[in-house]
Amino acid sequence: MRKVTLEELFNHPIVQKYVGRSGVAHAISVAENAFEIAAETGVNPDLATKAGLLHDIGHYTWYENGEWNYQMYQENDIHAIKGAARAHKLLVRCGEDLQHAKAIALAVLLHTDSYLPEGQLQLSPLQRVVAKADEADEEPGGKHHYRQIDYPTALDRIQKLDAKINHFMVTVELEQTC
Ligand SMILES: [Fe+2]
Repeated sequence: MRKVTLEELFNHPIVQKYVGRSGVAHAISVAENAFEIAAETGVNPDLATKAGLLHDIGHYTWYENGEWNYQMYQENDIHAIKGAARAHKLLVRCGEDLQHAKAIALAVLLHTDSYLPEGQLQLSPLQRVVAKADEADEEPGGKHHYRQIDYPTALDRIQKLDAKINHFMVTVELEQTC
C-alpha cells in the first residue's frame, strides 16, 4: 500500500520549484528508467521512482554574469546532500512511511559520487537503480537539465507511471499470497 503517489509529490510546490530548476523532463525520465530497472531487479519500484523523480531536487543555480559556471559547480556543488535533506522533509510532510522516506533520501544522497572523496562506495540495490536510471538519461554538457516539457504532458507521464506502479505492486502482492 503506497502512502504517497508520484502525482502528489509532483504537484507539490516544493517539487515544482526545485525540480523545475534542474529539469522536469529529466526527472520524469529518470523516474521512468528507475521503474524499469527496479522491476527487472526485484527492487521496490515505488521507492525507486520517487527517488528518481526527486534525485536532483537539491540543485543550486551556479550562475555568474548570466551564464552557468560549470567549473564553479564542479568545485562547490553539494546538490545530492541538499537534495537528500529536501526530499526527506518533503516526503515526511506528505505522509510517507518513515522507513521509506529514509531509504529514498539515502538513494538521493548517493545517486552521484561527483561530490565525494575518491573511494569505493557499496551501494544498496535501490541506490544502484537510481544511479543507473540517472546515468541512462544524462547528455553531454549537462544538456539533460535543459530539456523542456509542458505541464500536461509531464502530468500525464507521472499519472501513467503511478498506474504502472500500482499495477505492479498489486500483481506482486497477489503472487505472494497465492
Ligand atoms: Fe540527474
